[in-house]
Amino acid sequence: MQTLRLTAEQVETAAEILRRGGLLGIPTETVYGLGANGLDAGAVGRIFAAKGRPQDNPLILHIPSADWLERYCEDIPPSAYALAERFWPGPLTMILRHKPIVPDAVTAGLDTVGMRCPAHPVCRAIIAAAGVPVAAPSGNTSGRPSPTNMADMLEDMDGKIDGIVDGGPCAVGVESTIIDLTCVPPRLLRPGGITLEQLREVLGEVAVDPAVTRLMGEGEKPRAPGMKYRHYAPKAPVTVVQGAPAAAARYIQDHMAPGDGVICFDEYAGLFDGHPLEQLGPSTDVPEQARRVFDALRWFDGTDVQQIWAQCPEAAGIGLAVANRLNKAAGFHIVQAE
Ligand code: TXA
Ligand code: MG
Repeated sequence: MQTLRLTAEQVETAAEILRRGGLLGIPTETVYGLGANGLDAGAVGRIFAAKGRPQDNPLILHIPSADWLERYCEDIPPSAYALAERFWPGPLTMILRHKPIVPDAVTAGLDTVGMRCPAHPVCRAIIAAAGVPVAAPSGNTSGRPSPTNMADMLEDMDGKIDGIVDGGPCAVGVESTIIDLTCVPPRLLRPGGITLEQLREVLGEVAVDPAVTRLMGEGEKPRAPGMKYRHYAPKAPVTVVQGAPAAAARYIQDHMAPGDGVICFDEYAGLFDGHPLEQLGPSTDVPEQARRVFDALRWFDGTDVQQIWAQCPEAAGIGLAVANRLNKAAGFHIVQAE
């Protein structure tokens, strides 16, 4: 299959691909998504095939506004509207009970569905023109880091999808925050661009699913099925070094072997001359770290490094999301610098 490259102006062509059951690479403010008509079970099935995604991992539905929630969801709690009012359009996915109209192909047979109203103007224009809810996982091959620009998505999906729309680099860079509103208290399933602190301002108490901060054991089942899979991982093993940035940089210097790769804050790049290196951004600029983290992980697959060491921000604010992605890429192989 030839994958059409579309510009941000070709909204009608993009919407037509969705309406006729095709697969579309679609820019969002978080990461690029692999979109299809969420009411067309056949089209949704092709998403799983293109990604090599396990069948038990449900997809989220993208809608143009909170008005659409009632078309697909029932028993919607007032908290959903309070969150929508404050954070939509934006990087927040809510887990709600779904109506029968949502195909099992989307929900993997669960009685809940993830709903998101994205902020990217091109994405919004395409969904509105298509007039259907768009089912879209991140646009990577299953297990690889999520794509944050068109070139990264084409690396995984060229020839496997009907088209891709260039919406520029993603402004957030990590996937949406997922909050489960079907339990009490509401539960954070995946940290993202909307922070835990922001959610608590609206919801009061919010539980944090254990899968956010540690590896799930053999018999354990995270509430977001996707959180159990090895994720975002480059081919080489990753070690995350926590602690104050200067101490962590020194720890890496002391423990690394010749040829090892490094993901470090900008201030410390000079310490690793001669090593394959990706800069995460200034240690104080966590939003920039979020924008760069997936590209940094992805870059090492084009090198022959045997091992990668990564500095990591504090797990507060959007740092919780950056730390989660790095820790998952490391299979939660984390060491603490003194
Ligand atoms: O920012 C994003 O959310 C991006 C862009 C494209 O919108 N999409 C994205 O989708 O990250 P995906 O499929 O890569 O991640 C969705 C996560 C998976 O871990 C999945 O298991 C979980 O959401 N999920 C989907 N439906 C769920 C449900 N009903 N209950 C619990 N978790 C669910
Ligand atoms: Mg994904």
